[in-house]
Amino acid sequence: MKKDNIILMGFMGVGKGTVARALAKHSSRFAVDTDDLIESLQNRRIKTIFAKEGEEYFRNLEQECANWIEKSVSNSIISVGGGFFKRPNFKNLGTIVYLQSSFDGIIHRIKSAPNAKNKLKKRPLLQDLKEAKKLFKLRVPSYEAVADIVIDVENKKTDDIVKEILKKIK
Ligand code: S3P
Repeated sequence: MKKDNIILMGFMGVGKGTVARALAKHSSRFAVDTDDLIESLQNRRIKTIFAKEGEEYFRNLEQECANWIEKSVSNSIISVGGGFFKRPNFKNLGTIVYLQSSFDGIIHRIKSAPNAKNKLKKRPLLQDLKEAKKLFKLRVPSYEAVADIVIDVENKKTDDIVKEILKKIK
């Protein structure tokens, strides 16, 4: 059965964390991020986990995180890493809101951020933009399939995105 969480899903750098924080301000819910949870559990950066342990190890941590959310988290806003949708129990975790943008729109968003360098550096799967574009194309159909709500976020202000989500979620 689906839980009462709001799950923000989408490709790396689309703005899930930013939208989650803004959404939390407009509701009585708390916002958490699965990458942040994993980093604090492990006391090291995602980048280091990928480099030292490999991607499969990271995916297992995501699974632990998904299991914890399913068992223990409700009435929350949860932004998830771009590959989190692959967890088999993902659909149960809440209403899945897909933040949709073109690949170029995402790269533009990242590169325009004041901390652009760090935003790129911290994401192991964004180091080679050609490979990242392939991954994007591969994932879009899966994002669409798993989404309960789709929000086009390209060139939109965070506040407008939040308004749209709140309108659609009722
Ligand atoms: C990943 C996305 C990242 C992070 C990890 C893997 C992915 O999160 O979980 O680097 O597979 O798309 P963001 O989507 O928050 O960048």
